Amino acid sequence: MNEILSDNAAGVMTITLNRVDKKNAITAAMYGVLADTLAHAEADASVRAIVLQGHESVFSAGNDIADFLNNPPATAASPVFRFLRAISTCAKPLLAGVCGPAVGIGTTLLFHCDLVYAGDNAAFSMPFVNLGLCPEAASSILAPQLMGYQRAAAALLLGEPFMAEAALEMGLVSRIVPPGEVNALVRQQARKLASKPLSSLLATKRLMKQAQAPAIAQRIAEEGAIFGRMLSEPAAREAFGAFVEKRKPDFSGS
Ligand code: COA
Repeated sequence: MNEILSDNAAGVMTITLNRVDKKNAITAAMYGVLADTLAHAEADASVRAIVLQGHESVFSAGNDIADFLNNPPATAASPVFRFLRAISTCAKPLLAGVCGPAVGIGTTLLFHCDLVYAGDNAAFSMPFVNLGLCPEAASSILAPQLMGYQRAAAALLLGEPFMAEAALEMGLVSRIVPPGEVNALVRQQARKLASKPLSSLLATKRLMKQAQAPAIAQRIAEEGAIFGRMLSEPAAREAFGAFVEKRKPDFSGS
């Protein structure tokens, strides 16, 4: 079964994470398809808005830990980095519908979306430190900026999750609805955007984003270099091994 579904209709490219049995954990192969689909959506003149969605029970458990262990991203051309560049530089309106857990990149990718609609079951977390890793997707800039430093520190240093109401209050999501209504709402909002003049949408998004764009690109590369190094260090090996073996990690040696 396709783990990434895409559908282009009425000016909206809808991309669906479709690996619910593994909580929509994202493998290198899935990042590759996501990056290619975003590139295709950007290039296709019939696409005027892009939606990224999961299932009403789960958005994404983040990086697939077993795949990361066996197949770590080695270079800037790795699928995960291609995906990060694609979402962070996406010129067209990018919307997300989020229900249930949104872990790691499941949360950090949302910092790059223009509109985010959440189910009241949405639970956001960025547990990079708990995995012996560091933030990615420029979340080390964007989380403190959006959430305020203290809340970002609770999320990024302690790895504390936050729920839909907190995400709404801090401006990470635009509206909360029952989980069964999220994907319909996000598609409706995307269609609304698709009916507007594309040149105005593109210019407005570019103007809102351009001042920070170089810093974001540079930070994604910096974080990626540190993250890549940390993946092979003892703390991450222990955290990932513990997840696969379904036990608590022991960081006393790292
Ligand atoms: N990578 C690989 N597999 C994952 C995964 C991940 N990130 N997240 C979940 N899975 C798999 C589980 O191993 C399990 O597989 P199995 O049925 O073969 O045993 C299956 O998905 C269901 O996960 P489970 O943990 O039983 O579901 P849950 O509803 O109890 O919890 C989560 C859901 C998302 C809260 C939990 O799975 C989780 O915390 N996952 C890890 C998140 C993470 O640390 N991501 C990395 C960020 S960099």
